[in-house]
Amino acid sequence: MTFHLHTYGCQMNVRDSEAVEALLSAAGHVRVENEADAELVIVNSCTVRDMAERKAVGKCGNLIAAKEGRGRQSESGGRVKVVGLMGCAVKRLGADVFKALPGLDFAVGPRRFGMIPRLVARCLAGETRILELPDDDEVPTGMDAHGGGVSFQSYVTILLGCDNRCSYCIVPDVRGHEYSRPAREVVAEVRALAARGVKEVCLLGQSVLRYGMRNKAWLPDDPPSPGGYKEAFPRLLEALNAIDGLARIRFTSAHPKGCTDELVRAYAEFPKVCRHLHLPVQSGSDRVLKEMGRHYTRAEYLAAVAKLRAFDPEFAVTTDVIVGYPGETESDFEATRSLMEEAGFDNAFVFKYSPRPGTRSAALPDDVPTAEKERRDQVLLADQQLRGQARNDRLVGTVREVLAEGPSLRNAVRWSGRDSGNRIVVFEPKGPLAVGAPVNVRIREAHPQILIGEIASS
Ligand code: 5AD
Ligand code: SF4
Repeated sequence: MTFHLHTYGCQMNVRDSEAVEALLSAAGHVRVENEADAELVIVNSCTVRDMAERKAVGKCGNLIAAKEGRGRQSESGGRVKVVGLMGCAVKRLGADVFKALPGLDFAVGPRRFGMIPRLVARCLAGETRILELPDDDEVPTGMDAHGGGVSFQSYVTILLGCDNRCSYCIVPDVRGHEYSRPAREVVAEVRALAARGVKEVCLLGQSVLRYGMRNKAWLPDDPPSPGGYKEAFPRLLEALNAIDGLARIRFTSAHPKGCTDELVRAYAEFPKVCRHLHLPVQSGSDRVLKEMGRHYTRAEYLAAVAKLRAFDPEFAVTTDVIVGYPGETESDFEATRSLMEEAGFDNAFVFKYSPRPGTRSAALPDDVPTAEKERRDQVLLADQQLRGQARNDRLVGTVREVLAEGPSLRNAVRWSGRDSGNRIVVFEPKGPLAVGAPVNVRIREAHPQILIGEIASS
């Protein structure tokens, strides 16, 4: 049957959806770009904040209404016959998912998406309301499935779950315990992608620098590290850097504890490893960091950033921040503000605190008023605009190596791509240009979020 996936949430979900698309295609189903043409629609859900979960559940409700001939037909074009929900919200809701969505055909939590082709077959045979909840230690199947239409960039999941248990975060409850995929599996997957023309991989995990810590990723009969790397993650970067045809390696997300000397050595030694790290800080107040259970102080966080910038002043550091955590005072907030300035972030995502049932902080009063959360959000975003401008101004006149991504959304004459630091660079191609091709762009103009320049040579 024809199918379409609708994805909410982070890159892990985007990657899981891609794998499901590949698995469904292999099972003989046909992916359609337009949801209105699909007989099977699957919503991949996020639950990190209340609003994210509401969106996914709401979307699913509309699809079910369309399936049952109620509601707006435009939602589905009237073709939808099977509606499934996958991902993080399923695990959080459990069997209650059918209270919220009585007409749902199947619901499958993270780590069990490999079953979806079989669940679809069961639905076609007449079953409905199938629930599949993974165990916290489950090792998924189908994780290395990549579809026919891979672009020049690809996500590769290397680490599942999380055991950090930050006070506010629902992720450990829904994505289960930390598990590192064996290095040989990851290397084989990236090698296969490179052989198919993929130039850039982004390695995914909640805390990728913990790769190989809870379970061994490297096995005794794996080839030894040529550079003498002892830590599993830098050693993985070394192995991936050696893959022919691959041009770039990115990874996300990270915790400052993982910024070891070996990691910095890997950044310096391996030219394919991009000079960017997404390092969520969450708060700049030591008191709040402690309450959150982040296991670092403001000074330790700043030391990690300084270490990365010491070997390359242009090293890009981006972050996530939560405003309005329970009990966050004006002075806690000002500490976050000043930390962001000291760290000199290249980009920042700011989130308003949202209590998640079952987390430690959900037991605390959500006492920062919504309007105040909104104000703090706006203040940090305004600061970041100025900071982004100032940081990008320093790059005017430099030549950035960019992988061409395609015509820019706003102006099709221009193309855009990203530099090693994940900065968006807009330029006019001098002649025909292939997607994924490297181009050198001399920066002429800087904006808070983008750089504009001319091709210097190609
Ligand atoms: N409320 C608000 N933001 C949250 N995040 C995680 N949990 C919550 C929550 N309960 C944010 C963190 C994390 C990002 C993915 O989402 O900043 O880094
Ligand atoms: Fe959302 Fe977190 Fe799940 Fe990603 S891992 S989809 S951010 S709940």
